[in-house]
Amino acid sequence: AEEVPLTRTYGGLADQDRIFQNLYGEQDWALRDAQKRGDWYQTKELMWMGPDWIVQEIKDSGLRGRGGAGFPSGLKWSFMPKQTDGRPNFLLINADESEPGTCKDREIMRKEPHKLIEGCLIAGFAMRARAAYIYIRGEFFNEAITLDKAIHEAYENGLLGKNAAGSGYDFDVYLHRGAGAYICGEETATIESLEGRQGKPRLKPPFPADTGLWGCPTTVTNVETIAVSPTILRRGASWFNGLGRKGNAGTKLFIVSGHVNNPICVEEEMSIPFKDLIDRHCGGVRGGWDNFQAVIPGGSSVPLLTKKLVDDAGDLYMDFDGLKAAGSGLGTAAVTVFDKSFDMVAGIRRLAHFYAHESCGQCTPCREGTTWMEDVLKRMENGNADAREVPMLEEISRQIEGHTICALGDAAAWPVQGLIKNYYEHLQERAEAGPENAQRIQQSSYQ
Ligand code: NAI
Ligand code: SF4
Repeated sequence: AEEVPLTRTYGGLADQDRIFQNLYGEQDWALRDAQKRGDWYQTKELMWMGPDWIVQEIKDSGLRGRGGAGFPSGLKWSFMPKQTDGRPNFLLINADESEPGTCKDREIMRKEPHKLIEGCLIAGFAMRARAAYIYIRGEFFNEAITLDKAIHEAYENGLLGKNAAGSGYDFDVYLHRGAGAYICGEETATIESLEGRQGKPRLKPPFPADTGLWGCPTTVTNVETIAVSPTILRRGASWFNGLGRKGNAGTKLFIVSGHVNNPICVEEEMSIPFKDLIDRHCGGVRGGWDNFQAVIPGGSSVPLLTKKLVDDAGDLYMDFDGLKAAGSGLGTAAVTVFDKSFDMVAGIRRLAHFYAHESCGQCTPCREGTTWMEDVLKRMENGNADAREVPMLEEISRQIEGHTICALGDAAAWPVQGLIKNYYEHLQERAEAGPENAQRIQQSSYQ
């Protein structure tokens, strides 16, 4: 991936290339201001270009799913049947954003809800769906109220419902609140939950595009992916594809948290080099780059990168290919930075607790393995383990990875594997250190 240059010299994303013009809430989220920002402009004219044109434009734009997996969006939309076999097509928006460190969809729903609603209409039309369901995370109470008001505004102004936006196409949008389970963001668990059952993932295939909501063809897709689509269609596929690197097109919302001077959610050009992102938008690492220890660059489901791995990667482009080549992934683009004061064993133990708590429990490797990993890590953190448990911990994680129904098992295994890979000797030393020495060893070995 390093051989593919940026499509233009990187100089920071120009304001006019930002899709989200109200990310910081300087204007009202409501329809009048949204329309001034360009939302709902010539929506019906875009729709009159036809479903096939819309799907082709999205394909040409190079847009890849913004929920974490990066699946090509146009291709995904094209899976939806063009001819009905009696089953209706559905669009299901995954607004169950729960990945630790990730809060980009939340900002869209708070400040730019009309981008999402207009996107539902256009994308739904392109998929020949008559309805979109937005499944919103239970904890997003205020966001659900804003979104609900925005949906009502759209109905009152003829933008949804019969003859939506004057296009001649009837289209409805329904909002459904989750109840606070991380696993309900896994697309088949989202479907199960929306159908009224426990949010337990289904085996894939069949993929939702074939057998989804109520057994009907369904595209499940992320808030940001749908919210950027109307602007891409208005400005043209080539504009979007001209940003970022080949195969990693467009702009992206990055969320940076942890030990930076100014944590932020910012829209930047895809492929921005990691250090540029931190220096340009976050005022650098707390205590400077010499104090940098590690980063998890894409939400907790991707492996961590230590300072050495970041340095070895050179510019470390923040995109799907750049981060994959460095041994991690873009995921949700939630960047968590750790300085040298941070106890990485405690951090990964905390993540292990999260996954153990959120496991739906239907696969044995995930249900048993996640709690086992947490237990071992807890004892290692406190110096109450055995050095021989380090390879055993690795083995447990390998037995989870790839042996479960959904990606939560892998997501639980990878941070532990990253810790072992990068802190092996420290873990061995610390495991047997005893409670009184564990903390001292942690400090000395990281600095
Ligand atoms: P996936 O790679 O299994 O699927 C991606 C999408 O492509 C899905 O919609 C799937 O239905 C579709 N797809 C893939 N192959 C297909 C085929 N052959 N035919 C038809 N459709 C196909 O990934 P998944 O499990 O949906 O997402 C995993 C990612 O989600 C992780 O990498 C993680 O970064 C992210 N994630 C995001 C969270 C958030 O809060 N936004 C929470 C947890 C994880
Ligand atoms: Fe449930 Fe874990 Fe299996 Fe996913 S991997 S289906 S969360 S038990």
